[in-house]
Amino acid sequence: MRVRLLGTAAGGGLPQWNCACAMCTRSRRDGTGRTQDCLAVTGAGRRWYLVNASPDARAQILATPELAAGPGLRETPVSGVLLTDGELDHTIGILMLREGSPLEVYGPWPVLDALRDSFPVRPILDPYGSLTWRAARPGATIALDEQLSATAIPLGVKKPRYARPTPARTSPEEPPLPHASSLPPHVARVGEPWVVAYRFEDRLTGGSLVYAPCVAEWTAALDAALAGAGCVILDGTFFHDDEMLHATGEDRPARAMGHLPIADSCQRLRAHPGARKLYTHLNNTNPVLAEDSPERATLDAAGIEVAYDGLVLGL
Ligand code: MLT
Ligand code: MN
Ligand code: ZN
Repeated sequence: MRVRLLGTAAGGGLPQWNCACAMCTRSRRDGTGRTQDCLAVTGAGRRWYLVNASPDARAQILATPELAAGPGLRETPVSGVLLTDGELDHTIGILMLREGSPLEVYGPWPVLDALRDSFPVRPILDPYGSLTWRAARPGATIALDEQLSATAIPLGVKKPRYARPTPARTSPEEPPLPHASSLPPHVARVGEPWVVAYRFEDRLTGGSLVYAPCVAEWTAALDAALAGAGCVILDGTFFHDDEMLHATGEDRPARAMGHLPIADSCQRLRAHPGARKLYTHLNNTNPVLAEDSPERATLDAAGIEVAYDGLVLGL
């Protein structure tokens, strides 16, 4: 499989348009910006899937030679999107992909529901007619091309802030979603995660990758998914739990925002010595963005990399 990191910043990007924190100021000065979290992956090279669709999706696709349109007039290698969650920085970009190419969009059930109700991307795009919405059920294998498959790993139940606390959608008149499982909707949604990781497996090369940009807590399911993986690209939103308070004055602990800080997760990664390890979804407050920071030195010493926009991996 071939993987290209299209964006490696958390929501807001680097620099964030309205932020003059130390890191955003430094990035503005040095021209070292990052776009918002997105990965592109392919097995055989003809069909590419985006993991998450950020507000930067159009620019990211245009900056990526492998994703250039053609050879047909309206042909694109972009075949679909896999959503790890429903956060705005991962879903707004779907609205930028409405120009008529047939795309499969996979996501956890609660996210597909939220994109119908709270952030109604699905009804908005329905008249444009080219997107197919499919549930990524935990543990079910999704065939992406002749050699690449993805499996959703359940990670948590943190809802996006916009998602209204509405009761479960059980109304009998509601039509089932396309490709719904055989369970009726109200049963299918019970216990379904809001946040998942994806484990990609290439059956020709034996390569495997776990992509997990939103990890609220370390779970046995995550450890199991990482077992034997060749590469892991993990939630590196914050290094410290109280980072937002110190950088911006906002008292929003990392864990409360659904992001296990690197200070904790890098210890957990020690249990997986065989995997190449990278952090992504970096918030503009994160000191590892500065190559001369002690936090970056900690990662260097642990053999853990900080991903960057444009990084290509072959697995
Ligand atoms: C997150 O990753 O926690 C969200 O993107 C934050 C947000 O956009 O509010
Ligand atoms: Mn985010
Ligand atoms: Zn900032």
